[in-house]
Amino acid sequence: MKQNFNERIDRSNTEAAKWERYGKEAGSRLIPMWLADMELPCSSAVREALIRRAEHPIYGYTDRDASYYRLFAEWFHEQHNYQVTEEDVILSTGVMYSAACAIRLFSREGDGVTVLSPAYAPFIHAVRHGRRRLYRSELRDTGSRFEIDFCDLEEKLKKARLFLLCNPHNPTGRVFTEEELERIAGLCEKYGVTIISDEIHCDITYPGAHFTPIMNVNPWTRENTIACVSPTKTFNLAGLKISAVFIKNRKMNELFRKEAAAVGISSINLFAMCAVKAAYTRSSGWRQEAMEYLAGNRQAAAVFLRERLPEIAFYQPEGTYFYWLDCSGIKDAPSLGEGFLKQGLILSPGAEFAESSQSFYRMNFACPAGMLEEGLNTMEMVIRNWKQ
Ligand SMILES: Cc1ncc(COP(=O)(O)O)c(C=O)c1O
Repeated sequence: MKQNFNERIDRSNTEAAKWERYGKEAGSRLIPMWLADMELPCSSAVREALIRRAEHPIYGYTDRDASYYRLFAEWFHEQHNYQVTEEDVILSTGVMYSAACAIRLFSREGDGVTVLSPAYAPFIHAVRHGRRRLYRSELRDTGSRFEIDFCDLEEKLKKARLFLLCNPHNPTGRVFTEEELERIAGLCEKYGVTIISDEIHCDITYPGAHFTPIMNVNPWTRENTIACVSPTKTFNLAGLKISAVFIKNRKMNELFRKEAAAVGISSINLFAMCAVKAAYTRSSGWRQEAMEYLAGNRQAAAVFLRERLPEIAFYQPEGTYFYWLDCSGIKDAPSLGEGFLKQGLILSPGAEFAESSQSFYRMNFACPAGMLEEGLNTMEMVIRNWKQ
């Protein structure tokens, strides 16, 4: 391995949200395993590109030539067999801004938007702040994985104008199969529901799982999907604020392009542009090593949880760098987060994702192995001393 991902990097004084937000409450020791960025250093190609550009003393307005759109089209073609051309790509400062923009553009106030639940909290806020009606279709725990309840989904899609899909799914880590996506597509077509597909985690999948873009499923999804993608999870660039939207349908593409420009989300920071180029063209070695490291952490966490914390139920994620931990076997599980916090361990509380997930916690394992071990040991210590 060329990268030293075992090194624990001090992020103090870098305005790192993951470290700053709970710093005071947690006291001197902090093990932040909540927000979705990695505690791993970016590729040297990205760092060098940023430093080189920063050394030039003028940071004026920038222009983007076709090569930037091509970068996205080519990466997603090579990685996931996406068939998009430069004209289909719209740049945006973030997936959530794109999703919120698409909700406003392709539905009206009072219209229904369906999500799979538990759901990434900003999805819920985007729907509610946009004054749309939120319909949740609960994923079912079948005993071997979380699955879509297609009868329920059909009921929820009947009433909706949009389906906001998250694939790979945050927080459960499911990577939906082609068959599942075909069934979703069939229902969306039947009820005339446009699909917004958040695919921000699509480059982070583990052996055995295969990511399929819903846009590739059939000619209907090709014309009725707004796909939101990004290099920021893959290459750990979230603070640089860059993403892309793929829309094949010409009319929808034109509408979105105009709206994104009008609200300013397609105006990309020059440093983000430098970073993306270096990430997509000169960071393949880093990416492979990062994925191996994540796979190692995923496995180590599974072994620890099975051996030392059998009261927590979980499935290994097929994608993403999250464990979705079912703590309902532990007394007063919804308060456990406070116990973790007292010991400096921060996980994302399940209540953020759904009321029915109050006994769950989402754990981000994209960190040095030593930090993961410390987090898991702390979790065990808190649970051992927890209310009987
Ligand atoms: C599913 C999902 N969508 C969107 C985002 C945020 O994306 P962005 O920073 O591009 O708005 C995240 C970040 O955690 C996420 O997990």
